[in-house]
Amino acid sequence: MACPENMFFLIGLFMSGVLACFGQQDLIATMPDRLDVLTGSCVQIPCSFDIPDKHKYKFNSTILTSGVWMKDIPYFDVRPDNVIFNSSETVNRYQGKITGNMSQKNCTTVFFNVTTSYTNRYYFRIERQPFRVTDIGKSVDIVVRDLPSSPIFTVYGELKEGNPVSLSCSAVAPCPEHPPELTWTLPTQFTTENQLQENPDQTKSVLSTVTFTLSYLHHEKNITCTAVYPVGTSNKTAEHNMMLNVSFSPKDTSASISPADPVLVDSCVNLTCSSTANPPVTNFTWFQISGGKTTQVASGQSYSLNVTAGDGGLYYCEARNSHGCGKSKEVRLAIQGQEEPVNPKVFEIVGKTLGLLFLFSLIVFFAWRRRTSRLPSGFDMTDRSQGQNSPAGTVCFNQATVGRGNQ
Ligand SMILES: *[C@@H]1O[C@H](CO)[C@@H](O)[C@H](O)[C@H]1NC(C)=O
Ligand SMILES: *[C@@H]1O[C@H](CO)[C@@H](O)[C@H](O)[C@H]1NC(C)=O
Ligand SMILES: *[C@@H]1O[C@H](CO)[C@@H](O)[C@H](O)[C@H]1NC(C)=O
Ligand SMILES: *[C@@H]1O[C@H](CO)[C@@H](O)[C@H](O)[C@H]1NC(C)=O
Ligand SMILES: *[C@@H]1O[C@H](CO)[C@@H](O)[C@H](O)[C@H]1NC(C)=O
Ligand SMILES: *[C@@H]1O[C@H](CO)[C@@H](O)[C@H](O)[C@H]1NC(C)=O
Ligand SMILES: *[C@@H]1O[C@H](CO)[C@@H](O)[C@H](O)[C@H]1NC(C)=O
Ligand SMILES: *[C@@H]1O[C@H](CO)[C@@H](O)[C@H](O)[C@H]1NC(C)=O
Ligand SMILES: *[C@@H]1O[C@H](CO)[C@@H](O)[C@H](O)[C@H]1NC(C)=O
Ligand SMILES: *[C@@H]1O[C@H](CO)[C@@H](O)[C@H](O)[C@H]1NC(C)=O
Ligand SMILES: *[C@@H]1O[C@H](CO)[C@@H](O)[C@H](O)[C@H]1NC(C)=O
Repeated sequence: MACPENMFFLIGLFMSGVLACFGQQDLIATMPDRLDVLTGSCVQIPCSFDIPDKHKYKFNSTILTSGVWMKDIPYFDVRPDNVIFNSSETVNRYQGKITGNMSQKNCTTVFFNVTTSYTNRYYFRIERQPFRVTDIGKSVDIVVRDLPSSPIFTVYGELKEGNPVSLSCSAVAPCPEHPPELTWTLPTQFTTENQLQENPDQTKSVLSTVTFTLSYLHHEKNITCTAVYPVGTSNKTAEHNMMLNVSFSPKDTSASISPADPVLVDSCVNLTCSSTANPPVTNFTWFQISGGKTTQVASGQSYSLNVTAGDGGLYYCEARNSHGCGKSKEVRLAIQGQEEPVNPKVFEIVGKTLGLLFLFSLIVFFAWRRRTSRLPSGFDMTDRSQGQNSPAGTVCFNQATVGRGNQ
């Protein structure tokens, strides 16, 4: 029944009732809700205050006003030992300093040599006889840790090959006198820009922005932002890792033929296309080049065929994803006993003019002889490079070289 929400609700109701009864606050303090701090380091509490109209005449900026910090509860009268800092005292429980100009209602305070026991809730009070007021409704939670929290990444721009991308890394600087130093580990050259910036709650952060051009070679590479916090004579580090997921058009497209040796008519031959792409290839298309003409013969990563006399010749494949297309080099399907790659078109010509066939065969024969004599034995049928020796009239626009020069 007495669940925490109800309790808080009742407390809130009670508090607002108190405020309603006694009028407005006596002091309006502004500070962050929470500060994460490193042991051994300092903490700067950005703080400002204002005096409500009814008390305004009591505040004279030319007269020194002292600032007091209390931990845990805002009621000084109940627990005077909760006062951990009083700017009018020379010795305090917490080593600190009000760095803000109190005359300008700036109560920004720095505490040095923070220890884990400082983890608590803190309230602010101003004192100038006889005017002493505390903002009981506003406090800052200081959380002291031994290790810094990880910096935070922000990515601007789509992670796509050829795109310029900006990454920023932000690390909190609770002790702006000793801000963290940010360094990057990237798979490429880059330029950085570092700056100390103020957050909306007046706390400080160090922001480092890096800009570079993405290449498909950056896909699945790690990038790291490391924050080094100087603490006394040593350093404390925190880092953030991110694996780049770069989308790119098919790369390293290659076609292979199995078996690679010349085959007999009626035997089975497999042509296989391979490629790397992100997102993966959605469409493989096979083309045959025969008699100077390119024909689409199949789709699918593998193309199996029962060899007929007209199947000999050059083949290549195209791999396609949403970002573009990659084309393989050509592979030759050689048929045993066949003197030259022929196709039905040649037979058509044969039927029409025998003399022309003789002349044509001679030309093709010698062309083939010159070509095959250039192929070394054990010729690797697959070829990792692409975009070269492109057959005329192909439909695949090759985007392969985009971003290649950035590694
Ligand atoms: C503030 O205090 C100074 C010095 O005591 C006095 O001269 C001045 O009149 C005061 N100003 C106001 C607004 O009370
Ligand atoms: C702060 O120090 C002054 C000067 O010693 C003293 O008058 C005042 O009572 C102290 N305030 C608190 C809250 O301890
Ligand atoms: C308050 O003082 C701090 C420390 O001296 C300074 O950095 C900050 O800018 C000041 N704030 C305002 C609002 O003037
Ligand atoms: C604080 O502010 C007052 C009024 O603006 C100015 O006269 C005084 O010189 C400032 N003090 C410091 C230490 O900057
Ligand atoms: C922090 O404490 C160490 C010893 O505990 C001391 O030597 C050093 O001066 C202190 N630093 C500050 C800024 O007070
Ligand atoms: C990349 O980072 C992950 C953890 O974020 C790690 O497991 C992996 O080994 C890292 N890879 C490289 C190549 O550094
Ligand atoms: C701390 O880090 C800085 C660079 O951020 C480096 O120059 C310094 O040598 C480091 N100190 C130690 C003790 O590791
Ligand atoms: C071709 O592929 C099929 C299945 O994809 C397989 O059964 C056959 O053995 C392969 N043939 C050759 C010559 O690699
Ligand atoms: C990487 O990006 C691709 C394409 O944008 C997407 O399909 C894939 O799920 C992503 N992978 C991871 C691990 O986020
Ligand atoms: C694959 O691409 C080819 C050529 O662009 C097209 O003819 C074919 O329909 C496509 N297949 C699929 C499944 O998208
Ligand atoms: C190849 O021939 C065999 C039998 O001769 C037949 O079962 C198979 O379906 C044929 N494959 C193709 C791709 O035509």
